[in-house]
Amino acid sequence: MQLPQIHSITKKVLVALVGAFLLLFLLFHMTANLFILRHDDGAWYSAFCHFMGTNWVVKIFEVVLLGVVVLHIVLTIWLALTNRLARPTRYHQRQRSKTHANSKLMALTGALIFAFLVMHFCQFYFVKIGWVKGEYMVEVEKLQTEEVMTVQQYAMQQQMTPADWVAELEAQVSMYASQMTPEQQQEMQANIQSLRDALPVAELLRPENLSADRKWVRHIDYDQRNMLKKTVPDCGVEPDFYYMSREFFHNGIMVLLYLAAFVVLFMHLTHAFPSVFQTLGLNNYKYNCAIEVLGKIYTAVIVLGFAIVPILVYLGL
Ligand code: HEM
Repeated sequence: MQLPQIHSITKKVLVALVGAFLLLFLLFHMTANLFILRHDDGAWYSAFCHFMGTNWVVKIFEVVLLGVVVLHIVLTIWLALTNRLARPTRYHQRQRSKTHANSKLMALTGALIFAFLVMHFCQFYFVKIGWVKGEYMVEVEKLQTEEVMTVQQYAMQQQMTPADWVAELEAQVSMYASQMTPEQQQEMQANIQSLRDALPVAELLRPENLSADRKWVRHIDYDQRNMLKKTVPDCGVEPDFYYMSREFFHNGIMVLLYLAAFVVLFMHLTHAFPSVFQTLGLNNYKYNCAIEVLGKIYTAVIVLGFAIVPILVYLGL
């Protein structure tokens, strides 16, 4: 088999640069996740996710990130294949060198992290791009259209539910219909229809659906999200990752799966960290030991930072 020719040093440098980018992303992702632990009904984490979901610079970053993840996988598989093809006949004596063992470990842990990412994306990222159903939220002020406010205010004044108030209004209008011109009747019907259309949105704004700071409507399901997208197209309904993460980590099996993934991540990153320095020529025999220790500390901080979220949420803390 003939693979496209790119010098393997170029590939290695690319893998290292991409790896360095991913190491930084993980630190950022882990730090942001710590907001999930705040008992503020998601005020900080939701604000963060909202920023991440709406800022165009972040959107570009996200595309770059996903491209980089794919590039990392493609390049590492390509490097491994090139190395193997460069030596079509296997050595008679099996290699037992440290480098060989490390690259085997990297391939295995890399594959496991890929499997974790597929699961992780199905749980979170694919919800964002609409491939998987989830729980959603929307800013209260985006739903306060004139019709919704009218329905809410009058229903509250009359101490009725919004649906009952609209039904009552409709009954009164039909009582006086005979005294109206056809144009007035038509106008009235159109007004009532727009109030009726506002009912599902007004329903969502019930106090029990609001976050503690009353900025967000929570607990929106997939059908309600679709309804909102049709009735208030600019409302910017988005996944409720705070609520979803907290729900998700009440499941012990999921917590164990995530913790197992973090152990694998630790193994992968502790090897990746010094490799990045080595490939980019930033190592020196004097500092190699320090780089290894730094790598272990950096990775431990990331992994423990990730792990503390499912553990504490599961324990209800
Ligand atoms: C406690 C652990 C974790 C939680 C609660 C978590 C949560 C999330 C959430 C909610 C999103 C969607 C955010 C958004 O798109 O705005 C996300 C995306 C993502 N996660 Fe995680 N994550 C965790 C661990 C990890 C780990 C260990 C990795 C990598 C090995 C990872 C890689 C990613 C990537 C690549 C994305 C897509 C990019 C992005 O949207 O930012 N996550 N994660």
